Amino acid sequence: VDDGLALTPPMGFNNWNSTHCRAEFDETMVKGIADLFVEKGLKAAGYQYVNLDDCWALPDRDADGKLVPDPVRFPNGIKAVADYVHSKGLKFGIYTSAGTHTCDGLGFPGALGHEYSDAQQFADWGVDYLKYDNCNNQGVDAKKRYTDMRDALRATGRPIVYSICEWGVNRPWEWASDVGHLWRTTFDINDSWGSMLSIAKQNLPLDAYAKPGNWNDPDMLEVGNGGMTDTEYRSHFSLWSIMAAPLIIGADLRTADRATLDILGNREVIAVDQDPLGKQGKVISSEGGRWVIAKPMADGSRAIALFNETDRPQRIATTAKAAGLPGARAYTVRDLWQHTSRNVADTFSATVPAHGTVLVRLAADAAWASYPPAVELGQVAS
Ligand code: GLA
Repeated sequence: VDDGLALTPPMGFNNWNSTHCRAEFDETMVKGIADLFVEKGLKAAGYQYVNLDDCWALPDRDADGKLVPDPVRFPNGIKAVADYVHSKGLKFGIYTSAGTHTCDGLGFPGALGHEYSDAQQFADWGVDYLKYDNCNNQGVDAKKRYTDMRDALRATGRPIVYSICEWGVNRPWEWASDVGHLWRTTFDINDSWGSMLSIAKQNLPLDAYAKPGNWNDPDMLEVGNGGMTDTEYRSHFSLWSIMAAPLIIGADLRTADRATLDILGNREVIAVDQDPLGKQGKVISSEGGRWVIAKPMADGSRAIALFNETDRPQRIATTAKAAGLPGARAYTVRDLWQHTSRNVADTFSATVPAHGTVLVRLAADAAWASYPPAVELGQVAS
């Protein structure tokens, strides 16, 4: 949507991947995450939205048809939590469904038929971001349901990032550029290599649809939830960044280890995701599970992922020309995980560990020196 919001992919946190509806999803958790955004430097790195997922409400609306926050999870209501998040210089998000009920069981109220009053209630609480799910939609046309909520959000006059969560079933990338700022492209991720890989493969071909104000959403991050190795989590974060995906942290940061914080806080990788040109990386080649993906950057450089889908180390090579940057006498290749730079005249390669990714930034170099025609970035530690 061309309204000045989400000009780069939204960055933040959502509790779903770490808690689902379990009891630890409550006011204490949400405030704790906001505190950690500041304390751990994640706010400074660009993370902004602290978002609630499903199960924050009571099953029944009140006598006026208003949504009622669960008093056990949120004893001070939702506005108090939003105010706390705002007091940290952060933004606050909430969740409901474009149906009669949300997705978890049949317990919680959805906004179908209540779009204007629910949107106004969210705006009154200080909501800055709405994730709008697709469950229990009674067969009403998706474009109508999502457009109705867009109009209801607009009617509040409050700027609210609008996340369409209909799992790609109605190909929202074809009709939602004027409806939402981001749209899910797949069913739910889970904390496993197979799930992450299959979702990445579904989202990669949609590169043409991403632009400032309109992002493909391959679902929230699982980095730090424990089901993948750190090498796999670096691949997950590299792929989401080169796809210009929303970076919504899905781990409970209160128990996150150093490796998790290092991955999520890698500013050189975040800069790939947040590049103002707003292009999603494009697949250059994918032979034998050896992927090369290139993303044009605003400064004329290219971010390039050398991604190894296979179960053994693979040498993956590419050239400046293949990455869309021909014609320079020399280039600098910056490794965004190792934080080292090399010069090269044309071809570069790396031996990428099983399930690993070497993520680089390739820039034309003004130097007149003659560099080796081909450079091996070397064996990358897993
Ligand atoms: C759906 C969504 C998930 C999550 C759950 C909550 O499955 O796709 O991201 O919001 O609902 O019930």
